Amino acid sequence: MANEPQGATIEDYLLEERRFPPSEAFKAQTLAASPFLYDDADQDWQGFWAKQAGELLDWDSEWHTILEWDLPFAKWFVGGTLNACHNAVDRHVLAGRGDKVAYHWEGEPGDTRTITYSDLLVEVQRFANVLKGLGIVKGDRICIYMPMVPELPIAMLACARIGAPHSVVFGGFSPDSLIDRINDAECKVVITADGGYRRGAPSMLKPNVDMALASTPTIEHVVVVQRVDEPVEMVDGRDRWWHDLMEAAEPECPCEPMDSEDLLYLLYTSGTTAKPKGIMHTTGGYLTQVAFTHKYVFDLHPDTDVYWCAADIGWVTGHSYIVYGPLTNGATSVIYEGVPDAPARDRLWDIAERYGVTILYTAPTAIRTFRKWGTTEPAAHDLSKLRLLGSVGEPINPEAWMWYQEHIGGGRCPIVDTWWQTETGAIMISPLPGATTTKPGSATFPLPGIGAEVVDDAGNPVERGGGYLTLTRPWPSMLRGIYGDPERYRETYWSRFEGRYFAGDGCKVDDEGYLWLLGRVDDVMNVSGHRISTTEVESALVDHPAVAEAAVVGANDAVTGQAIMAYVIPRGTHTASTELGEEVRQHVATKLGPIARPKTVIFTDELPKTRSGKIMRRLLRDVAEGRALGDTTTLADPGVVEEIKRRASESPTED
Ligand code: PRX
Repeated sequence: MANEPQGATIEDYLLEERRFPPSEAFKAQTLAASPFLYDDADQDWQGFWAKQAGELLDWDSEWHTILEWDLPFAKWFVGGTLNACHNAVDRHVLAGRGDKVAYHWEGEPGDTRTITYSDLLVEVQRFANVLKGLGIVKGDRICIYMPMVPELPIAMLACARIGAPHSVVFGGFSPDSLIDRINDAECKVVITADGGYRRGAPSMLKPNVDMALASTPTIEHVVVVQRVDEPVEMVDGRDRWWHDLMEAAEPECPCEPMDSEDLLYLLYTSGTTAKPKGIMHTTGGYLTQVAFTHKYVFDLHPDTDVYWCAADIGWVTGHSYIVYGPLTNGATSVIYEGVPDAPARDRLWDIAERYGVTILYTAPTAIRTFRKWGTTEPAAHDLSKLRLLGSVGEPINPEAWMWYQEHIGGGRCPIVDTWWQTETGAIMISPLPGATTTKPGSATFPLPGIGAEVVDDAGNPVERGGGYLTLTRPWPSMLRGIYGDPERYRETYWSRFEGRYFAGDGCKVDDEGYLWLLGRVDDVMNVSGHRISTTEVESALVDHPAVAEAAVVGANDAVTGQAIMAYVIPRGTHTASTELGEEVRQHVATKLGPIARPKTVIFTDELPKTRSGKIMRRLLRDVAEGRALGDTTTLADPGVVEEIKRRASESPTED
C-alpha cells in the first residue's frame, strides 16, 4: 500500500526492514563512534566548517570571514590563501612522510608503478615548470584528456601548483565533446596521451585531439604522454612529448599562493539537451569538504589503510576521491587503468587482494554487474583486509547492497551509500560508518554541517514520504557557478524553490528520518495519477532472484496516462521467457502493490548507459513510445539501443 501523507508528491511503496548497526569491532577503531561531529555542527555550522578548514589544511594566511552568502553566490574562508598542491603533496614530504606511497598504480596490461609522496613532488614540480615554459600563467585554463595513468593526477596537481585551473575531459568523450569544452573554457593547452589500454588493446586518444583541434582556436600547445607507443601524428611547433619536456624542465617550482576563492578547476556536466555546464570549484572550501568527507565517511586511518576509489579521474568522483581528498589526507590509494573484466572477471578482486585494499568505493552499476557475474570470482580471492565499502552515482538497490555487503564485505564491512553531485563537489548525504545504523538502499542522513530537506511541489517540507531533495544552506565545496553563465546557474539550481538549492533528485523520508534517493525527478512516472519513482520499481525487480539489473520508464498510455515498461537483464543461468516475465511482474505487485506492476517486461542483455554508468531512461522512453531517439552522444555504447528496440518489438504487452 502506498503511504501518502499530506504534502508527499512522489509516492512511497518500498518497505525495507533490515538494519545494520555498526559492529562493536568497527566501533572500537573508528574515528567517529559517537555523534559528536553532528553535535558540534548543530551548535554552529559555520564554526564547524571553520574548525575543519583549520584542522585539515595548511593555510598561508588566515581567512577573516568564514562565509559570505549572497544567495546564490557563496564565498568561503574569505581572505585566506593556500595552495591545493602544497596541501596534497609538499606538506606530507616536509613532515617526513615522503616515503609513504601515494599511489599504487596498475596498468591494464599488468605493468605497475609505485609512487610515493616524494616522487609526486619531483614530478609535479617539473611538470609545473613545463607548463610555465609553454607560457602558462596563473588563471590560464588547461584541458586534460587522458587515460588513467599517473601523469593524469600529476598534471592536475601541477596546474593547481601554478594556479592554472584544469578542465579534465573524460577520456571516453568524442572530439565534439572536447571541442565544446575547450572552447567554452578558452583553454590554452591540452594535455593528453597517445592512448591508453582498454580491454586488452590500445585505445587511441591523440587522433581525437587532432580532430578537435581544427576547431579550437585558443589551443597553443599539446603535451602528449607516451603510453601505448603506437604511431601518432605530432604537429611541429604545437605538439610535444611529455618525456622530452620533463627531461629539459627545472626541478624546482614554488607553489603559487592562491586565494581561497580562486578557481581550482572546471568540470563539465552534460545536460541532457543543452550545452554542457562548466561547473566551477574553488580552492579553500572545496579542499576543506573533500578532506573532511574523505576522512570521516571512509573512516580513514592513513597509516594502515589502502584506499581504492575505482572510478575514473575524469568524473568528479575521481577529482574529489582519487586526487584531492586522499592526497590532502596523506592516504595510500590504488589506481587501476582498465576495465574490471580484463583479462578476466576477477581483476578487481585480484588487485584488492594483492595490494591489501581496506576501503573500496565503487558504483551501483559495477556492483550489479558483479552480482550478475556471480560469486565465484570474489570468493576465489582473499578480501579479508577490506573493512569498509562505499557506493556512489545512482540509488543502490537494496538487493545489490545486500550482495555487496555479503560477498565483497564478508558480512563485516559497513557500507557508506554516498549521495552527492558534480555540483556539490563532495559527499553531502551519507552514513558515518561508526555512528550510523544503515538500511540497505538508504543514504541515511545529511552529514554534519549539511542542511538537506525533502519538500513538496509548493516547497513545504515533507516529514514523511516522497518529494524533492533540496539543500537548505550553503556548503564549502558547493559549485560557485556555471562558467561564464551566472544566470543559468541561478535558473538551474536556485529558482525552483525559493532560497533552496534544488538537486533535481526525488527523495523520500521514512518514519525514522532516513533519506532514500528516488532518482532524477524527470524520470518519475505518473500511472493513473500516482507518482511512482523508477527507483522503487527497479529495486523491486532486482529483488527477484532471476533479475540482475532493471530499468523502468513510463510510456504514454491511453488508459492510465503512463504505463510502466520494464527492461530487465536476467541473472546467472536464467533466460528470458513469457513465464519469467509474468513472474517478475507479479513479484513487483507483491512487493509494492498492483499499481506498480509493470505493464510490459522486455528482456535484454544490456541497458543504455552514460559513460559514467548511469542508466539513460530518456532513451528507453523514446523506444517505448516509438519515437526517433533523442540525443545519443552521451551514450557509452550506441549499439545497445538498437538491440533493445528489436527486443521491444518482439515483446507482447501484458495486462
Ligand atoms: O541523481 C543523483 C545521482 O547522481 C547524480 C549526480 O551525478 P554526477 O554529477 O555525475 O555525480 C556523480 C558522482 C557524485 C545525483 O543528482 N547520485 C549520486 N550518488 C547517488 C545518487 N543517487 C542516489 N544515491 C546516491 N548515493
